[in-house]
Amino acid sequence: MAEKRLDGKVALVTGGSRGIGGAVTRLLAREGAQVIVMARGIASLEEIDDEVRAAGDLPLTLLPVDMADIETISNIGDVIAHRCGRLDILVGNAGTLPPLGPVANSSPEDWSATFQVNVEANLCLIRNLAPLLLDSPAGRAVFTGSFLARHPAAYWGAYAASKAALESIIRVWAAETEKTKLRVNMISPGAVQTEMLSKAYPGGYPRKALTPENLAPRFLDLVLPECLRHGEVIEIAAGNATFL
Ligand SMILES: NC(=O)c1ccc[n+]([C@@H]2O[C@H](COP(=O)([O-])OP(=O)(O)OC[C@H]3O[C@@H](n4cnc5c(N)ncnc54)[C@H](OP(=O)(O)O)[C@@H]3O)[C@@H](O)[C@H]2O)c1
Repeated sequence: MAEKRLDGKVALVTGGSRGIGGAVTRLLAREGAQVIVMARGIASLEEIDDEVRAAGDLPLTLLPVDMADIETISNIGDVIAHRCGRLDILVGNAGTLPPLGPVANSSPEDWSATFQVNVEANLCLIRNLAPLLLDSPAGRAVFTGSFLARHPAAYWGAYAASKAALESIIRVWAAETEKTKLRVNMISPGAVQTEMLSKAYPGGYPRKALTPENLAPRFLDLVLPECLRHGEVIEIAAGNATFL
């Protein structure tokens, strides 16, 4: 059988049970990676594991963890080292969308919950997983940002601000790791047809949106050992004035 492009690699995909992360999980597994998938819902984790097994790819390693549970996230490096012995790829994709509304009327609880998942949890993952990624011969980290980080729009306050903070962290981390083998990037998608988009636009998104399957190859490109791009924030469909 032909060698696959990620044979022997271990990848963690947060929010990898459905939507953008689900498509990335399926594609990395298709390319031979052992994929660890983190999300809260056990049923959707088991569903994607069944799909991947049915396709004949390596079974997934399931981590039913809430990104808001910082104590558990703080031990994730040890858990992965113990269960898999290494980590080559981190796809930091899980994110949360608070209720939309004017900044002046927004609730401190919503801001705090949004920053906990979209910012603090990713920072905690970086702290924990950097040693494993730096040990890999070709460590790769890709995060999911947002068009709104650079093009904020009315009513998207906490979400836009949290993604802007995450983008800044990723750029700083990339600057700090420039001289290492680790490559760190971010993909900033426009609108993608997922549950999150339906939540933001309950009446239906008014423009054309990407499918998660269209987008996933852009993540794959950035995690391949031969890809040396670093410190980039790749905006996709930004010219389309899409939100999210
Ligand atoms: N869809 C878009 O148009 C769009 C555009 C730009 C950026 N993004 C970003 O893309 C990423 C993925 O979004 P999506 O659209 O694919 O959303 P989605 O279909 O709702 O999927 C979200 C994934 O994240 C997991 N997740 C959510 N909250 C979590 C938490 N607290 N802890 C652990 N896992 C959690 C979900 O599983 P559980 O619910 O079971 O935990 C699911 O696997 C997010 O960072 C989002 O901000 C999306």
